[in-house]
Amino acid sequence: MMNIQRVLLSREQIAKRVNEMGQQIAADLDAEAKRVAAAAKVAGATGDEIGAASGPIVLIPVLTGALVFVADLIRAMPVAMSIKPVTLSSYPGKSTTSQGVTVQSGVPMDLKGARVLIVDDILDSGKTLGLLRRLVDAQQPRSVRIAVLLNKQKPMGRAEDVRVEYSGFVIDDEFVVGYGLDFDGIYRNLPDIVTLGG
Ligand code: IMP
Ligand code: MG
Repeated sequence: MMNIQRVLLSREQIAKRVNEMGQQIAADLDAEAKRVAAAAKVAGATGDEIGAASGPIVLIPVLTGALVFVADLIRAMPVAMSIKPVTLSSYPGKSTTSQGVTVQSGVPMDLKGARVLIVDDILDSGKTLGLLRRLVDAQQPRSVRIAVLLNKQKPMGRAEDVRVEYSGFVIDDEFVVGYGLDFDGIYRNLPDIVTLGG
């Protein structure tokens, strides 16, 4: 059994940062909607077309890790949205390094013209978000953004370089759990983000 070693990010630090992120993302989406609507008007688009281009965003949380983060993030984002969770997995059981990503379910296939926000707990090897970004990009959405709570520094480089528009915290390359993150399925419900020791 692994034991909690130290608190890396307290629930208070997380709450403050998640609120900031929500407000920042909402402001950026709002600015984009205004730009799109203005450009569409100039191009002579109908009200319906303008509504589609600047209306509700599609938010794609990557389960199960993003469960806690996304619940807090969306309540800091006063933006119209539909939520379409996907299940991807790369860390089966007790593994603490990526074993290759499998899509388990739910990548939406109707994203043409949509404004998409992908939300995940952590960027590590980059394989998960790299795959998802490609699956989304292939559908020609209007825009795609990725928000992660944690961005793990990889001194040796990532398996896949992924552009991430929003990162909550940059952390060292060590295994962490809590606030949605697990080890072998356990610890997701810890309110703080902690490191584990043997
Ligand atoms: P990537 O594909 O290697 O970038 O891994 C992304 C996924 O691996 C995340 O969504 C997490 O579910 C999991 N993961 C990566 N690092 C950690 C960690 O330190 N603790 C728990 N899960 C992790
Ligand atoms: Mg995950």
